[in-house]
Amino acid sequence: MRFQRIHHGATDSTSERAFAAIESGSARHGDLHVATGQSAGRGRFGRRWFSPPDEGLYLSLVLLPPPPPWSPAALTMATGLAVFDAAQALGCKDAWLKWPNDLMVGRAKLAGILVETRGFHPERPHYVVGIGMNVRQRTFPEELRAEREVTSLALLGIDVSLERAEECVTAALGRRVDDLGDIANRETELCVDFISATRLLHQPVRALIGEEETRGTLAGLSIAHGLLLHLIGGREARLPLEFVRELERV
Ligand code: BTN
Repeated sequence: MRFQRIHHGATDSTSERAFAAIESGSARHGDLHVATGQSAGRGRFGRRWFSPPDEGLYLSLVLLPPPPPWSPAALTMATGLAVFDAAQALGCKDAWLKWPNDLMVGRAKLAGILVETRGFHPERPHYVVGIGMNVRQRTFPEELRAEREVTSLALLGIDVSLERAEECVTAALGRRVDDLGDIANRETELCVDFISATRLLHQPVRALIGEEETRGTLAGLSIAHGLLLHLIGGREARLPLEFVRELERV
């Protein structure tokens, strides 16, 4: 996939810039909005994304595909894997994916992804894939550290430029989004890669759908049938991917 890079310098949020372009009708499939810093970077569940200038990677990809053969769940998995692949390419071998697509090292978050759509129309789907990666930060604000553990490539001893980080993320993103176009032949690979990146296969897990918790051993994952859990007593549960809010080892 080819990207058209749109550089904003400092902005409110690259995802907001992407939606503004979609709403004005000027957006193209493959537009990649990149910023040096964000004053209103946002994360999942309405959280703020800490976006100091020239320290992190902040980018949002516009996807305006023809009605795609893949589901939003497949896109979420593919983008998580792209960031995972990029971290490996940058020398971060210990990264893993926390459901659905937080990039972690140990218990600390290194990168996050926000896949959004507004006014979704099945015949004219659009998605904005926002990616934030902590690259050169050496400190994080107290209020963020109070919420969760965070890290950056620099704190992990990986000294790379923002340009190099962007190069690796966009190369991996291009490959993973291209693979989605051939999902009929690549679904198994996507699921195997994803489950391996979560490190949860054959592990005892708890999955949350709404407030309902299911506990079992993770036995597999497929786009069509969801997560397969082996429950106590020999029973099985299949949980649709788009409804699983949390999945973690117990
Ligand atoms: C999360 O893990 O909560 C998702 C974080 C996504 C942050 C990125 S930074 C670039 C893009 N613009 C935003 O405002 N958010 C995403």
